[in-house]
Amino acid sequence: MTQHLDNPGPSDTPGAGTRTPTQSTPRREPGRRKRVPSRLPLLLLSAIGVAFVVYVVRPYLTFDPAQARIPPQHSLHYAFLAGHVITGSVAVLTTLLQLWPWLRRKHPAAHRLSGRVYLLAGAIPSALLALAMYPVAFTPGSVAVLLAAPLWTIAAVLGWVRARQHRYAEHRRWMVYSFAIMWGFGVWGFAIGNIGMHWLGVNPFIAVEAARWVGWVGTLLIAHWWLERSAGRNLGGVTTRARKTPATATTVQLTVPDL
Ligand code: HEM
Repeated sequence: MTQHLDNPGPSDTPGAGTRTPTQSTPRREPGRRKRVPSRLPLLLLSAIGVAFVVYVVRPYLTFDPAQARIPPQHSLHYAFLAGHVITGSVAVLTTLLQLWPWLRRKHPAAHRLSGRVYLLAGAIPSALLALAMYPVAFTPGSVAVLLAAPLWTIAAVLGWVRARQHRYAEHRRWMVYSFAIMWGFGVWGFAIGNIGMHWLGVNPFIAVEAARWVGWVGTLLIAHWWLERSAGRNLGGVTTRARKTPATATTVQLTVPDL
């Protein structure tokens, strides 16, 4: 799709975009800071994410209610739980793909596809199934479930809408918020609850309350701090702040693929 955009500037340009020959090499502007090295934290995050998914999803892939770590309370509960864990695992794995700058730069179509899978086969169904389990779920921290599940999905949908509108800096921001809520609740929450209860011998009510609040609120705050701190930097082909368009902006032609 060919579009006319008013002086978009590099800071709101998709790393994934198809570029015209004159735009093929992103140049560092004088005075611009060096790229933040992102490989080590990403590798660590990927290892944690894959290990987490392998551990949590296995009992639910047998589709045997006796294998569930949470005893089903009614006939549909097991289906909700297994569906929630499987789609949650899809969300964790697709998140890992989405975060790699290399994939965004070299294979934008794969980035778009895994983004759609994250939204439609991960975030939306997993959050809806978490809410469906609410009536029978463990009570401590249950307000956090009611808050985190919709926020996770809303942030993902807003991120997708912004990408459709080619507002990439905002797309990135909403997606980072969505990933932070998901990762904080799913991965850190699981770790906090289990370490608290089984290793540290913390009262289960307090451990679950902490698991359902500390993980996602903490990760969301860190994500917000990181987004602000890295604003304006080039993070692997995706720039991080929408540049203000000057009143005298000239119209340039960009070739941007359909998302
Ligand atoms: C905002 C996001 C999330 C919310 C609100 C949420 C909510 C819930 C709820 C209400 C339960 C049932 C707990 C009970 O019956 O007491 C549950 C269980 C579970 N959730 Fe999530 N969840 C979220 C994200 C995730 C993600 C991304 C994963 C990744 C796979 C995940 C994995 C699990 C697992 C494995 C269980 C069962 C625990 C076990 O087998 O020990 N959740 N979740």
